[in-house]
Amino acid sequence: MTETGSTGGRRTALVTGAGSGIGRATALRLAEDSYDLVLVDRNLEAVEATAERAGTGVRTIVADLSEPAAATAQIAAVLGSQTPDLLVNCAGVGWAADTSETTDEIWETTLAVNLSAAFHLCQLVLPGMLARRRGVIVSVASAGALVGLRRRVAYCASKAGLLGMTRAIAADHAGDGIRINAVCPGTVDTPWIGRMLEGEADPESVRQRMEQRQLDGRMGTPDEVADWISFISSDRGRFMNGAALVIDGGLTAV
Ligand SMILES: NC(=O)c1ccc[n+]([C@@H]2O[C@H](COP(=O)([O-])OP(=O)(O)OC[C@H]3O[C@@H](n4cnc5c(N)ncnc54)[C@H](O)[C@@H]3O)[C@@H](O)[C@H]2O)c1
Repeated sequence: MTETGSTGGRRTALVTGAGSGIGRATALRLAEDSYDLVLVDRNLEAVEATAERAGTGVRTIVADLSEPAAATAQIAAVLGSQTPDLLVNCAGVGWAADTSETTDEIWETTLAVNLSAAFHLCQLVLPGMLARRRGVIVSVASAGALVGLRRRVAYCASKAGLLGMTRAIAADHAGDGIRINAVCPGTVDTPWIGRMLEGEADPESVRQRMEQRQLDGRMGTPDEVADWISFISSDRGRFMNGAALVIDGGLTAV
């Protein structure tokens, strides 16, 4: 864990998967919103690079969320008695595999990072949020939580699970002063997509297919998701609770 700058008196956001893509864009957007940041990622260099760009009031934690209980204990130790005002569950993993291709390891790791870690972190922050009757949680699900994506069975199950978790926590704590929502991005141009395309024989034609399956004919940018996370986390999003916000350039509209 490293710390830069002061954390006195400002709102704090805990963001997982902050070393890359949507998590990094969200961290930088929340820094513009004047949050102090606690950034979690398994990749030291990547999360330090985000922290460097975010400026002051940033703490970084290198933790592996595929071990949700251990990672949560590590994060709890850094937070001490502090409760973040905002938790963004963004870290995620996925493999291209249909049911017969999905090994126990793929299934368990996907569920651990994408769903169980988010749940453990909700368990970590909720008591403090409920005690002061204020707090917001946003989880980054996926269009794959709403529709079936080919060869993504573990991924779709984990992201649909996030939506179920979001709705149930919202129901349990209606009237307690906290809000919890999810966002469902379509295909967003992040290093994740770059890695996926590297494995293809003809990456350019696969990229074009991915762009064309969205009504807008292009991939989203990480900032286009981060902007919505910022908005629904703010007081302007105050009437939104237990919801799944679709940000997919029309991918699931047809
Ligand atoms: N890119 C897309 O098209 C897209 C679409 C829908 C949803 N999403 C979701 O958005 C989130 C971010 O995706 P992205 O595209 O920015 O990916 P990315 O690969 O660019 O970033 C993911 C980050 O999560 C971190 N991470 C992965 N496993 C971890 C672990 N076990 N412990 C701690 N950190 C871990 C990685 O180190 C990385 O910094 C994911 O949950 C993903 O499912 C992405």
